[in-house]
Amino acid sequence: MSDTPSPDPLSPACPATPAAAPRSTNITWHGGAVPAAQRRAAMGQRGATVWFTGLSGSGKSTVAVEVERQLIERGRHAYRLDGDNVRTGLCGNLGFGPEDRDENIRRIGEVAKLFADSGMICLCSFVSPYRAARDRVRALHDAVCGDDNQETLAFFEVHVDVSVDVAAQRDPKGLYAKARAGEIKNFTGVSAPFEAPQHPDLHLPTGRLTVPEAAAQVIAMLNERGLLTP
Ligand code: ADX
Repeated sequence: MSDTPSPDPLSPACPATPAAAPRSTNITWHGGAVPAAQRRAAMGQRGATVWFTGLSGSGKSTVAVEVERQLIERGRHAYRLDGDNVRTGLCGNLGFGPEDRDENIRRIGEVAKLFADSGMICLCSFVSPYRAARDRVRALHDAVCGDDNQETLAFFEVHVDVSVDVAAQRDPKGLYAKARAGEIKNFTGVSAPFEAPQHPDLHLPTGRLTVPEAAAQVIAMLNERGLLTP
């Protein structure tokens, strides 16, 4: 049997991602009995992914925590995926070299897409320093491979933007000091690159915004895009 998957009219055309493509063969999409509209009605909302990207210490997790708190308070369904947390489990076998970071973001992108497809507002806080990896996550959402294959999933890229100097002054985990002393290799902003988004859906300069102000901008964006209207 060839390892090259043959086109199957019954299977949605999922975009292949580097680590996902080659090894799973002889698989068939198994559709459910719940159309997207019925799921939305049951959840009282449409799912989405909000992707916070920025340096360590920029405030991604802090803002996501506040957004989640406010969404839940409003009766919305939301859930956070956080870099440090996910690396204790699902991605615990990955390091910080470019390939491992790409695999980290690929896995989380797939998980976020599933959450969004289930109707959750999924708040993802990952350094995610490589533009191409973030673009692949957006593309995954643009080509949802579910039972209602015509529908795409909402994806918002939020740049949580501070300078390396500000992040290093905050240094909440003491990592910049270690990176500058050469004790941590491949540290984003010090010895590894951060490719800032060119056209983020939202730009949050957290050096000039309070946490409530930043969270309010995220909520306003979701509201404007119709995500908070039952
Ligand atoms: S990503 O680059 O693959 O997206 P991720 O968001 O999962 O990174 O994890 C980043 C967190 O890991 C940082 O907030 C920091 O606490 C920790 N960390 C440890 N080593 C590094 C490193 N070399 N570069 C960046 N963050 C690191």
